Amino acid sequence: MSGDRITFGIKGLDEMLSGGLIPGTVASVIGQYGCGKTNFALYFLWSGLLNGENVIHITLEERTGRIEYYMRDKGWDITPYLGKSLTIVNLDPSDFNLAINSVKNELPELIKRTGAHRVTIDPVSLFEDLFDDDATRRREMMRFLDRLRDLNCTSLLTSEADKENEFSSRYNLIEYLSDTVILLRYARGDSVSDIHLAIEVVKMRMSGHSREVKPYEILKESMIVYTEANVF
Ligand SMILES: Nc1ncnc2c1ncn2[C@@H]1O[C@H](COP(=O)(O)OP(=O)(O)O)[C@@H](O)[C@H]1O
Ligand SMILES: [Mg+2]
Repeated sequence: MSGDRITFGIKGLDEMLSGGLIPGTVASVIGQYGCGKTNFALYFLWSGLLNGENVIHITLEERTGRIEYYMRDKGWDITPYLGKSLTIVNLDPSDFNLAINSVKNELPELIKRTGAHRVTIDPVSLFEDLFDDDATRRREMMRFLDRLRDLNCTSLLTSEADKENEFSSRYNLIEYLSDTVILLRYARGDSVSDIHLAIEVVKMRMSGHSREVKPYEILKESMIVYTEANVF
């Protein structure tokens, strides 16, 4: 795989991204609940850890203990990394001022202090929920993503899909602000039992990428993107 790219370690997905994410950019993974957003985020971090990188996972949904449990349950031995190259932070989005301050001020400091190469925020849509109006949300998110880019880490933000439109994130915003957008969705065939998970790279600034929709599977320890296959 090309050396200047940040790889997922998921062969098919890295191929779709022409080798991986571009260092210092912000990617978003958009999909309905259960599509595997958290799995993709954690796998992205695990690949970084195996490469000797420093990584940070910000979870707005689950306690840090749960994330540690998921990673161990996947058969990944995080013990040597935990508290060293792996930092997991739980942010409570119910406390508005605390959450805003943590994301805007403390996270950049943490990234600098730990020299993080990879940062995931899961799901960023819960952070977006904190802003009352579209104009403030857009302005704040734009600033925040620029801040992440300035810190030279490669970021992966997950977002729930809009309830009415599975091709869009909840606020129809993060896909415009991100450099790379990966869309996950359920693809249904003719028969009711014919359901696949489908992945698509819909946008990648400064790079060529695949525009094909490919099936993927979440396995216990890994994820597979079938680039040789079509969804139906
Ligand atoms: N060990 C496993 N083996 C197979 N599939 C799994 C395993 N663990 C999780 N999954 C699948 O992953 C889904 C949850 O993925 P998750 O990343 O939490 O989704 P999201 O964050 O998009 O809501 C589950 O519904 C299940 O289908
Ligand atoms: Mg999740």
